[in-house]
Amino acid sequence: MKRTSFIGSLLFLPVAKLFGKANILPLKECKTQRDAEGPFYKPGAPLKVIIETEGQPLHIAGTIFKASDCTTPVANAVIDIWHCDSSGNYDNQGFKCRGVVKSDSRGKYAFKTIFPPSYGSRPRHIHVKVRAEGHTELTTQIYFQGDTNLQNDFARNAETSRVLSLTSGQGEQHGLFDIYI
Ligand SMILES: [Fe+2]
Repeated sequence: MKRTSFIGSLLFLPVAKLFGKANILPLKECKTQRDAEGPFYKPGAPLKVIIETEGQPLHIAGTIFKASDCTTPVANAVIDIWHCDSSGNYDNQGFKCRGVVKSDSRGKYAFKTIFPPSYGSRPRHIHVKVRAEGHTELTTQIYFQGDTNLQNDFARNAETSRVLSLTSGQGEQHGLFDIYI
């Protein structure tokens, strides 16, 4: 090594160390927790913002974000939704209580459906899959605060971001669910 480049490398060593430290700072953890797909997923659900109307009205909205930085919205993400009907049954023949919505240019999505009842010992839940270019598909479930069945199964391990606190307004309940993929 030439003397000048040796001195140069010594001069830059602390700077490199600083940058090195900056690179290993832990990132904010925001990735949405996965959950079981369950036995009733059916591909090919139609694009529709009103998934179901027979039951207690429920409006879910949120934004899809990149989990890599927790802040960049993901446009054109596909949110595939399925849940049981007001009698607790899944439609395995057609697409009742099944539908797909897409996030807009700001990553925002919304859909209307019903507050699904619990069935068996399961808590009330809505299944979702999120697909977006450049991201691994996310499969998860949404739960609801105050549901006494939440302790009955694996739902007890759900992170609070997936256990929605609903508010009431305009004759329906509203839930906010931001998704980080
Ligand atoms: Fe289910």
